[in-house]
Amino acid sequence: MPNTTICLSVPNFSGNEKKYVNEAIDAEWVSTAGAFISRFEEEMAKTLEVPQACACQSGTAGLHLCLRHFGVGAGDIVLVPTLTFIAPINAVMYQAATPVFFDCDSHMCMDAGQVEEYLSRECRVEDGKTVEISSGKTVKAMLPVHVFGDHCDMDRLMDLAEAYHLYVIEDATESVGGVFSKGRYAGLHTGTVGHAGVLSFNGNKIITTGGGGMVISRDAAAIEHIRYLSQQAKNDTLYFVHEEYGYNYRMTNLQAALGLAQLEELGGFLETKRRNYDQYCKKLADCHYGGILPFGSGAVSNHWFYSFSLRQPDSARRDRLIRHMTGRNIQVRPIWKLNHTQTPFRRFRAMDCGTAQRFYDSVVNIPCSTNLTDAQINRVCQALLAFEAES
Ligand SMILES: Cc1ncc(COP(=O)(O)O)c(C=O)c1O
Repeated sequence: MPNTTICLSVPNFSGNEKKYVNEAIDAEWVSTAGAFISRFEEEMAKTLEVPQACACQSGTAGLHLCLRHFGVGAGDIVLVPTLTFIAPINAVMYQAATPVFFDCDSHMCMDAGQVEEYLSRECRVEDGKTVEISSGKTVKAMLPVHVFGDHCDMDRLMDLAEAYHLYVIEDATESVGGVFSKGRYAGLHTGTVGHAGVLSFNGNKIITTGGGGMVISRDAAAIEHIRYLSQQAKNDTLYFVHEEYGYNYRMTNLQAALGLAQLEELGGFLETKRRNYDQYCKKLADCHYGGILPFGSGAVSNHWFYSFSLRQPDSARRDRLIRHMTGRNIQVRPIWKLNHTQTPFRRFRAMDCGTAQRFYDSVVNIPCSTNLTDAQINRVCQALLAFEAES
């Protein structure tokens, strides 16, 4: 049999997905109202042990709703990592706010030490808010991202947030199911530590609704307001009174039906992700030019995305590796081009992002779907090892 393509990350529908979606269709509730939406929210809130959740159209929409809810507006500064998918930075732009870019730590997540340095050296606290001295702008929030299912140093970031009066919006879009295991937040799910957290159910995530997201928070009033904003800020369904402007950001019942079925499978997916990750680590243990990166030890990761890293940063060699794998019908990809180097964001401040650059020059993500077969994992590993022989 010819080598069929092994994709990076595809959905796994082996549970009640069709049954629940059919139920939604049979009930003729397919749009932004219906029983599956509240069931999905309730079950997710139960799983993550938060009082409430708001299902929305995407993770990006969820991030935007959080920024709007916390009053981040024109000119306010939001501290963001440069190494992340662009969505959180775009959400900052939707509010006409100003991103300031930070490097990453040794696990690709926002460098808390560099954030501390910036706040202590370049900002001052006055009248209960933090102001960047050079621009006079208010630093309003930070948006740490739990990259690839790893975790940020939330102990340190939350201490900084408290000292500098910042809102923390945790981008947990990639880390659904991850649980902190050390420090002050041991036992808590990623996304439930900050003032709000955002999940994504895009097609490549550990569970999917096709497209979709969810905002979670321990602050029930925040979730209520975010839900209101997500439904065009509509006070009632008869007279259509609006006290604020809102967005068409609510999840549909069809998506939620899919999501509820996927959530039932989450425990199994987490196990499979970890088992496949362990297989990769074992099979590539003797690879001399690179290896699988570990996840940080402060949390039980969801092992969402697997990173294969060259031992020496070398973007030309990374690109040769990508071509080598693609030529064997194996989909791999580099890390996202760093955001502070992207055209729309070059005009904003960025700290020294040398660590992120080294990751960018070294890492390719390799197939990580939960329905990968052992034979496919073998094929990926053999292809990676063959590159060593050739290069
Ligand atoms: C780090 C990160 N933030 C935000 C998002 C946005 O989520 P969505 O695609 O659901 O809008 C994604 C992924 O898609 C992501 O990877």
